[in-house]
Parts: sequence; structure tokens; C-alpha cells
Amino acid sequence: MKTFKRYTVTAALPYANGPLHIGHIAGCYLPADIYVRYLRSKGRDVVFICGSDEHGVPITIRARKENTTPQQIVDKYHNQMKQAFEEFGIAFSIYSRTSSPVHHKTASDFFTKLYDKGIFQESVTEQYYDEKVGQFLADRYITGTCPNCGNPNAYGDQCEKCGTSLSPLDLKNPVSALSGEKPIMRATKNWFLPLDKLQPQIEAYINKHSDWKPNVFGQCKSWLSQGLQPRAMTRDLDWGVKVPLKEAANKVLYVWFDAPIGYISATKELTKDWEKYWKDEDTRLIHFIGKDNIVFHCIIFPSILMCDGDYILPDNVPANEFLNLEGEKISTSRNWAVWVHEYLADFPGKQDVMRYALCANAPETKDNDFTWKDFQARNNSELVAILGNFVHRTQVLTWKFFDGKVPHAEEYDKSDLLVMEEIARFPKKIADAIESFHFREALSELMNLARIGNKYLADNEPWKVITHNPKRVQTVLNISQQICANLSVLMRPFMPFTANKLCSLLNISPLNWDAAGKSTILTEGHKLSEAVMLFERIEDEAVQQQVDKLHQSKVVNEAVIKVTPQKTAITFEDFEKMDMRVGTILNAEKVQGADKLLKLTVNTGIDTRTVVSGIAKYYKPEEIVGKQVCLLVNLAPRKLRGIESQGMILMAENANGELIFVSPVKPDTDNGAIVK
Ligand code: MF3
Ligand code: ZN
Repeated sequence: MKTFKRYTVTAALPYANGPLHIGHIAGCYLPADIYVRYLRSKGRDVVFICGSDEHGVPITIRARKENTTPQQIVDKYHNQMKQAFEEFGIAFSIYSRTSSPVHHKTASDFFTKLYDKGIFQESVTEQYYDEKVGQFLADRYITGTCPNCGNPNAYGDQCEKCGTSLSPLDLKNPVSALSGEKPIMRATKNWFLPLDKLQPQIEAYINKHSDWKPNVFGQCKSWLSQGLQPRAMTRDLDWGVKVPLKEAANKVLYVWFDAPIGYISATKELTKDWEKYWKDEDTRLIHFIGKDNIVFHCIIFPSILMCDGDYILPDNVPANEFLNLEGEKISTSRNWAVWVHEYLADFPGKQDVMRYALCANAPETKDNDFTWKDFQARNNSELVAILGNFVHRTQVLTWKFFDGKVPHAEEYDKSDLLVMEEIARFPKKIADAIESFHFREALSELMNLARIGNKYLADNEPWKVITHNPKRVQTVLNISQQICANLSVLMRPFMPFTANKLCSLLNISPLNWDAAGKSTILTEGHKLSEAVMLFERIEDEAVQQQVDKLHQSKVVNEAVIKVTPQKTAITFEDFEKMDMRVGTILNAEKVQGADKLLKLTVNTGIDTRTVVSGIAKYYKPEEIVGKQVCLLVNLAPRKLRGIESQGMILMAENANGELIFVSPVKPDTDNGAIVK
């Protein structure tokens, strides 16, 4: 493997449109921070770059919602996020923002250089336009039905339900998110990056990186196999970096053109020496991101950099999957999140507990679920019971028997030598896992070292042996103290606050990575500071409070713009064609081989018949037997999975896509009663 002289590590610039939540942290900031802290501990030259992404439609939509200006939105959230990162211990070299003048100039110059090189394709295309508001509808300003999964609330650039990347023209039944109106088509000129022409170069670049995480490499390959399309790098919006062309005075750069350039602008702000971090082949460029950002970092941004020609390309893009919360997707708009600033206020001084829980349960290879129960268990049965317990016992015993001084190791027996050999293996084991972006594994190895410590104490029982063999206890506690010292080094990337606490317990200054592995870190007679606990138990009450808070503050009704628009008008005669009745479900059973379907037997008042209904995900058969429902009885029979369905049960679909029965409100309505 190539050795690099220095590292440029970036973490996705979060949109300044809402506070930070634990999904952000677990997705990219924590793994990036662990990686960088490890590199720093190895003495590597590294810059760690982040900042607020202040352009793009998410910002302007939030401003409309809060009835204010985009500028006020970004000012508010930029400062809030910056502070939350800092307090949570995410140690960026710089946290900048894309509204900064340096960034506007950098992004604008980038565009000009590519323009002058003749890279862009100019094309006039028909785009959606909202006549009522007088604005073109790019990306998230347009919603409609996803052609892929049928989600009625897909955005013009992406369906959040199935993850498909879309263009506004792909949506069925498009509506303007601004006015709710059906948009018209209007011609407009934009500047396109010809990704189709660049495909061979991009393909060669991606193929050189088959070592990327499978989820990342796989997504890139799938994009490439579909064939890349030219993508507009300009937008008809007024919030963003102005396009530096006279004829495009009312347009701004596409947010995915300007935002990644933000990494470069921030580095410029950080140091005059920024060029070596971006242009020297000996620099390793690594982007930490969440999975929804893969195409932008692996295909679009590298294409932009290639077109410029002066820059190095990303060497790795370790993307995580998503973190869910208590079984549901984290959502800013529904207020279903654990907000970092609230966590910091509710659990002061416990940054590392959350860092630990998030890393131990990181969505590295698949989506994962954060639960407060798991958080509590990680704290009580791992941090307190294993790591904290080992360190505390070692300190207390050393104070008790040796007045807080590291005792001399008299003589090593076989078991001591074995433990020392094990200690020696940990720095590399953990380093290898970190360097290959397996942070969960790295963290569990760290805990294994504490487990070894606990077992060593339990096997040797210094509290008993002291009565007849104090010399043996000297050795045992000396080695235990060496394990503590090793832990203080190896835990630092994951739990920097606790590492500091442990260093001050041990009365040492922080050591770097290569000091670990040895069993001679603390010298004989070294005076320790007083023993205090590293962690404390978290009680049921505290986590129950968090769960309650979550449910209480959940926003049930999504924004109005999410409601599917009205269909085209029909006549009363059209309506009268439908024969809808009240009926009772007499029996329900699963349909073999179809996980969505239930086979229902329904008394319609007219007869008893079979209806196959796609509700198996939402109802168990036994829950719905005896239920009164409304159904369409004159729908032409259809065969579903070999069963003839004679009618259709009426259901309402809520914003989460769940189906709810439409039933008569009065109990025991006559079966066969007409719905009209
Ligand atoms: N703001 C984007 C998001 O939250 C990430 C931007 S990353 C950068 O999805 F590359 F553009 F900087
Ligand atoms: Zn979809």
C-alpha cells in the first residue's frame, strides 16, 4: 500500500437547516473524528475539514416554513451546530460555512475555469415552473409520485422512501412544493457537466478503488451501469453562489457543485499552505459521508476535480448507512430525533457515553436502530461494569496497599508474561481496524483489553493475596496499572473526555499511540492522583424520560405540502358507478408466499365473499376478525396469487405510508348498508 505524507479528512457539510441529531453524528462525524484523532495520535499531518452547507433548497424551504429569510436560517443553525460539534468533542481543524466570501469566490472561480476550458454543455431545456409564485421548481421544490416505488411524496431529486435518485421530470403527478399547484413547463438555459462523456474516466477511477466499502463501491457500479447523464450545474434560484456569467445573472450554482468545493474553501481559510492538502499526490483525501451522499462524492465531485485537472481525487469515501431511532426513521420535520444540544444539556459531561453507544452500534454495513434501552445497557453493563470497574479497582487497591504509588514489579510469572504479550498486540489490532474503517470492531477490541484487565485481577485476587504474599500483589498491581495506561492511549480516539480523565487519574500527560503496547509506561513509585469513577450508572428513570419526551414531541401531521394533490374532477354519474357497502370481516388469513396480502372472508350483506387485501404489513389476521369495514363490491374480480378477489376494502394511507381502515363510526351498522 502507498504511504502518504499527509491526510485531508472531510466530513459532509451538514445543511444549516436544523439542529444536529445523533443520526448525523453516527453517520459521519463520529467515525471521521475517531479516525482523525487516531491519525493525530500517530503524529500524522492531518487537516479535518467541515462546515455548514448553507445553500440549496432545504435552506430556502426551511426559511419559508419559519417565515423568515434564508440568511437568518443559516446564521441561526450554523452557530448552533458549530457549538454542538465542539461540545460533543468533534475536533475539526476548522468548521467553516459556505456563505463565507472565500467560498463564494472559490466556487465561482472553479466554475469559471471549467467554463473557460469549454467543459460545460449549454442546453435549453423545459423545466417545471410555478406560475403562481413565478419561479422555476428545481429539485426539492417539486414533489410527486416516485416512478420506482409509488411513494406519493417523492422529491424532484430523490425519493426518500426507496432511495432512488430522480430528476423532476421522472415524477408522476408533479406538484409545486411552494403553492401546491400543478406546474407548467417553461424553457430555460443551463450549464451541464457532461457526465456521459466523462464516464470512461470516472469508470477507470472507480475501478481502481474496488477496496472501498461494498455499499459504496456497489452504488457507484450501479450508477455507472445505468449510464451517467449530463447534470445541470446551474439552477434558476436566487439563493446560492451566483453564476459568474452575464447571461446567467438570475441563476446560482447547483448546490452539489458548490458544497463539496466548500471543503477546499475551508482549507484555504484554515491555512495559507492549503494547496499541499489538495494538490499533492502524497496527500490522502478521505470523505466521510452518509449513504445518501455517495454519488455526489464518488462520481460528481471527482468529475469536477478531474475537469479542473489540478487536484487529487478522493482516495476513499467511507459512507455509513442510516441510524434509526426507536424503530423509526429519524426525521427533523416530524421532530423524531435525539438532538445533540438537548442531549448535552440532559446528560452533562456524558459525551463519551453517547460516543460509545453510537460507535458500538454504528450503521457501518446496514441501517441500525438507536434505542435508549441499548444506550443504558451500553453504559451500565459495558462502560461502568467493565471499563470503569477495572480502572477503579486498580486505583483503589493501589491506594489501599501502596499509598497511591505504582509498585515495583518484583518478578513476572508465566501468566504475567502472557498478559503482557496480549497488551502488546492491542495497538496494532485497534489501529488496523480503524485504518480499515471498522470502528465498531476497533471499539470492541478496546473493551477486550479492559476485559483482560478484569480477568487478570479476578484470577490473581490481590485483595486476598496481600495477606500472605505482598510482593506478588506489587507485580499484579503494577501490570494492572500498565493496562490502565494503555487504555488511556487506546481509548482516546473514541472517548477523548474519558481519556483525559484517566490521564489525570494516572497523573500523566496524554501519550501518543506508539507509546502503547508496553508494560513499562508507568514507572515504579509514580504517584497517582486520587481515585474517582470514570462512569456512573444511568437509571431507568433517566432513559424513560427521554423516551417519553420523544413520543410527546413527535409531530404527527407532516407539512401540508406532503398531502397528495386532488385528482381531476369527476361527475356524479362517475361516482354513482361505484357500489360501496358496509361489511364485516368474518375470517382473515395470510396468503402463502405474499408478505403483503391477507385473504379475507367478508359478509357484505349481499353475500359472503373473498377479498384479497394488501394490508398484511399493518394488521395481524386475528386483530381484524369481526371488524366492520367499507368496501367496493362491484369492482371487477381479479386474481391475486391464484385467489379470486371479489371487491376492495377501503383504506386511508397516512404520511408514513401505513394503511388505516375506513370503517363506519357507529358500532353494529347493518352489513350491506350503502356508502354514499
Ligand atoms: N449538505 C449535504 C447533506 O446534508 C452534504 C453536503 S456534503 C458536501 O446531505 F460535499 F457537499 F460538502
Ligand atoms: Zn421511491
